[in-house]
Amino acid sequence: MDIFKNNNNIIFKEEIKKKELPNHIAIIMDGNGRWAKKRFLPRTAGHREGVKRVMDTVEECGNLGIKYLTLYAFSTENWSRPKDEIDYLMKLLVEFLRKKLQKIHNNNVRINILGDISRLDKNIVEEIEYAIDLTKNNTKLELNIALNYGGRDEILRASKLLYEDIKNNRVSINDINEEEFKKYLYTGNQPDPDILIRTSGEKRLSNFLNYQIAYTEFFFIDENWPEFYPDKLHRVIYDFQNRNRRFGGI
Ligand code: FPP
Repeated sequence: MDIFKNNNNIIFKEEIKKKELPNHIAIIMDGNGRWAKKRFLPRTAGHREGVKRVMDTVEECGNLGIKYLTLYAFSTENWSRPKDEIDYLMKLLVEFLRKKLQKIHNNNVRINILGDISRLDKNIVEEIEYAIDLTKNNTKLELNIALNYGGRDEILRASKLLYEDIKNNRVSINDINEEEFKKYLYTGNQPDPDILIRTSGEKRLSNFLNYQIAYTEFFFIDENWPEFYPDKLHRVIYDFQNRNRRFGGI
């Protein structure tokens, strides 16, 4: 069943089964530029509107009882964008943290970063570290923000960390299996995503969570990210609950 083929099929939040919620939702927030272009606005206006949907999605995941939400905010490949756009995206992130951090904290949300933030400006790193530290004991929802993140880079980094541990006799190579290896990824002990959403109609993974996504259910939806209101999230979860996941079994 693909509910997205039928635009008249309105699914209500009440139809989501509370006991079979996905643990972890990952999102590639795509189409901000196209959203803006359609409205004859600069691309930055699309990113700004996109931040509003970030907050809506964080709040709604908290309300629903989702435990992990991972958002792809900036990839290792995004450095090839014009400097002005990169600066604007970083400015938006800092603004988001300044304006929304207290609310996020009050909602018992923990902020984690996936990716190498050491390359970012010092003031941005400081804002991020403050947010991580402030929210580190929160337990309702873990919000992973993937920032200067690449899935291959993450696997390579994990391999190097593992090598260091083996070399220094902290672990034995015989004890390394898929579950143990996973601990070296940015996501550490978190469960793999149950759901991956990509907005804007593109059907690619774009180097996102390559290792973690082995058995994830994919949802490619046509709307651009600035149009991803909570009702779209409800539709994805409803559809997920009606899929048959076999994890390689029958
Ligand atoms: C993709 O749209 C979007 C991005 C590369 C950035 C996503 C970032 C945000 C929504 C804001 C910052 C995030 C947080 C967590 C506050 P695109 O520019 O590739 O759109 P296009 O494909 O239509 O050009």
